[in-house]
Amino acid sequence: MEKKQLLLAPSLLACDFARIGEKLKILEGAGVPWLHLDVMDGIFVPNISFGQPLIKSIRKATDMFFDAHLMITEPKRYIKDFADAGADLICIHVEATDDPAGDLAAIKALGVKCGLAIKPATPVDSIKDLLPMLDLALVMSVEPGFGGQKFMYSSLPKIGELAALRAELGLDYHIEVDGGIGAENARLVYEAGADVLVAGSSVLGKSDVAAAAKAIYESLK
Ligand code: DX5
Ligand code: ZN
Repeated sequence: MEKKQLLLAPSLLACDFARIGEKLKILEGAGVPWLHLDVMDGIFVPNISFGQPLIKSIRKATDMFFDAHLMITEPKRYIKDFADAGADLICIHVEATDDPAGDLAAIKALGVKCGLAIKPATPVDSIKDLLPMLDLALVMSVEPGFGGQKFMYSSLPKIGELAALRAELGLDYHIEVDGGIGAENARLVYEAGADVLVAGSSVLGKSDVAAAAKAIYESLK
């Protein structure tokens, strides 16, 4: 199957929140297509980040594709809120819900793309039956909750498994990888089969965000 084009998804978590508007303009001007939005509830993960009011507000500042990564328990409670706030894709964690199929269907019913994430210890097998519903499968390459952690190489076989299943089942979901990605390992992750790379500290955590994004694209050549 043809390899998908790389989509870079800088994570807002690494941004200086006082300068979001300015930074997003620069990224958009540099041709970066997606913005990854890490929503944390302090329960599913031991950290709190931001929620739908912030997303609603930055929706007015950019046309980038909003990829909302919900690290919250029982995400169904908030799916409509995030859709209304302007998320283009809502990704939930399989470990955070008793009814992933129902939640994914609820996301789709709102006309928003849906994704399903797995933590480092969760096998691909646990979401195999749900793959036909997905627009995106997200492999965590760090324990969710914090930016700036080290990439876990144990995620690589899971990326390959998802790519093989996609071809075998004739599906078309994106494979996104999140955590510890930068110019030094982007190529490895892309070649393993991922096509959406989340980059927090390595892009919005840098002073020159356009140069940082460019360095990741260049590293694939
Ligand atoms: C972790 C988040 C990641 C994080 C990535 O829970 O899901 O998206 O912001 O940050 P870096 O790229 O710094 O590991
Ligand atoms: Zn994330």
